[in-house]
Amino acid sequence: MVKRYRLGSAGAKEPVKTEAVIADIPESGSGSLFLTQKNGALEYEMPDDMIVYGLGEQTRGINKRGWKYVSNCSDDPNHNEGTQSLYGAHNFLLLSAGDFNVGVFIDTPAKVTFDVGYTRYGLLRITVADAEETAYDLYVMEAESPSETVREFRRIIGRSYIPPRWAFGYGQSRWSYDSAEEVREVVRRHREARLPLDCVYLDIDYMERYKDFTINRETFADFEQLVSDMEKEHIHLAPIIDGGVKVEDGYDVYEEGRANGYFCKDENGGDFIVGVWPGRCCFPDMLDDDARRWFGRKYKILLDKGIEGFWNDMNEPAIFYSEKRLKEVFGEIDAYKGRNLDVDSFFAFKDLVGSISNSEKDYASFYHTYRGKRIRHDKIHNLFGYYMTRSAAEAFEELAPEKRILLFSRASYIGMHRYGGVWQGDNISWWSHLLMNIKMMPSLNMCGFLYTGADLGGFGGDVTEDLLIRWLSFGVFTPLMRNHSARGTRRQEAYCFAGRTELFGGILRLRYRLLPYLYSEYMKAALQDGMMFLPLGFVWPEDEIARRTEDQLLVGESIMVAPVYEQNADGRVVYLPEDMKMLRFCGADIVEEKVYEKGHVYIRMPLGDVCIFLRRNRLLPLADSAEYTEAVDYRRPGIYAYGDAPEPYAYYMDDGRTKEYDCGRHIVYLTADRENA
Ligand code: GLC
Repeated sequence: MVKRYRLGSAGAKEPVKTEAVIADIPESGSGSLFLTQKNGALEYEMPDDMIVYGLGEQTRGINKRGWKYVSNCSDDPNHNEGTQSLYGAHNFLLLSAGDFNVGVFIDTPAKVTFDVGYTRYGLLRITVADAEETAYDLYVMEAESPSETVREFRRIIGRSYIPPRWAFGYGQSRWSYDSAEEVREVVRRHREARLPLDCVYLDIDYMERYKDFTINRETFADFEQLVSDMEKEHIHLAPIIDGGVKVEDGYDVYEEGRANGYFCKDENGGDFIVGVWPGRCCFPDMLDDDARRWFGRKYKILLDKGIEGFWNDMNEPAIFYSEKRLKEVFGEIDAYKGRNLDVDSFFAFKDLVGSISNSEKDYASFYHTYRGKRIRHDKIHNLFGYYMTRSAAEAFEELAPEKRILLFSRASYIGMHRYGGVWQGDNISWWSHLLMNIKMMPSLNMCGFLYTGADLGGFGGDVTEDLLIRWLSFGVFTPLMRNHSARGTRRQEAYCFAGRTELFGGILRLRYRLLPYLYSEYMKAALQDGMMFLPLGFVWPEDEIARRTEDQLLVGESIMVAPVYEQNADGRVVYLPEDMKMLRFCGADIVEEKVYEKGHVYIRMPLGDVCIFLRRNRLLPLADSAEYTEAVDYRRPGIYAYGDAPEPYAYYMDDGRTKEYDCGRHIVYLTADRENA
């Protein structure tokens, strides 16, 4: 059951319509609300045994208790435990204790603070920044289990985005593939070393002076030829598109946007100018219907060249500087000249330059036109990335209605999950970021983001060979499996580590063996509003150890994973909530099968070994490995089983390209008779 409450101060304006929820839910009187409205916040006394799940892309644990989080899409590549805001804003919480499984969704693009037992362990306090001025809708849902509560929520926000099946293959990316030659080289080296690959991502380097929808014809002279040659190699190219359009006379996208008034405006009605990768840029007003349609149709330029996938970036939107703020800061710096800088003035001076990026002042100084009304950016900040991605998806629907196109974004808000996936933003080659990736998966799934993954190996910083091996060993399970890194960092393509290429190849080939299962589980989760990555407590809510386990996950209905995320570890303690059969893969091959009883066990996992725990009476379909997704034989997977009475496995398989999804027609039931075929 889902209830909707309209909250905010008396006399507050109508809420901004985010279109996160697509179901029409009548308003309930606030008398039945289980949260208390106090001092402008919503409060709730949490019993000690309550777990608070949710918040999608956020730091810290699967259980969010003990920290303060702020929904405010932020470009923060150096995030750590102390961070409160990441790239996405996902205002969904699930409070779970015994029979009490209640979901809460705060639908507002304003900043929302979730103090989940930070000020006091037993107190949940939710504060909506703009509630004085603008009302908001609060949705409350309840069901008998955590999974069912999530399903209730997912039903009202609509079906998750479904990518083409090739997007489940391995992708290689790096900011600094500076020419077509380099892209060809990356593909050649993968193919030569028999490292499977389906996609190469093109970062801003393919563009002419970082201008959206252009090609650098000096370095990517025959882009069209490159796309078609790659197609012959079964490689898809997925270019990046940024949220800002370069200010440059004669650049048609800029000229059209300016002439038609499609850009966000400053206080005086002029185009608001910021600095991002290309230098001076304007932001298309993604919230304005006409501007959004116009921007979306620009993707056609690349679709017409044979491109079938995109990643939308810098769409929090990230601002390096605004013209106005830059001028102010230069002025302020002047005032420090010749002064004796003491403890206060020195640090203020030092912070000055850093303060120009993503500044609150800037976000509060430009305007959108939303449904005919002028609205200041900071009031709808969390919608920008969502609406940018929506602009592309709506255009694809018009331009190629039958075809699935790969699309994922950096910034997001709930609702965007219908239009595209997300990658988990800029991370660093740190072990703690691998662990964060693991914990974020179920939280994102709850919020509808199924197509997701992190930059494997880490984006910033220098990777080590063992970190990359461990990260890929987890990445084999995430729908988006992409190795991505920043310009200037150590190279981390799978062929870069002397003597280890075969080991990397084994891990990548395991991904392809798992594809029938992963794709099937993904599709069922999408079509039935379910989750693909589950915390153990969702399946064993009565098992207190399972409920408190933060570093193991269920992936789909049949398997549990327990990744290694610490340097120099040779294995780890695994908790088995029931008897399970461990399948040890050394690369793509099973080298050991062993049944472990319920309880804790230390399992050795040397580098290159991936252990999968098969649940009792469940089946795992596995294909032979292949070097690209379409070479996988999906029709006849081998079956691994554990238990005396395995339930038939509901195997979903469709053509992977068109939109004729249908659980009825595309599910066949696999049984254990075909075991180890
Ligand atoms: C941003 C993106 C990153 C990309 C870089 C250059 O930092 O998050 O993935 O490589 O911009 O485009």
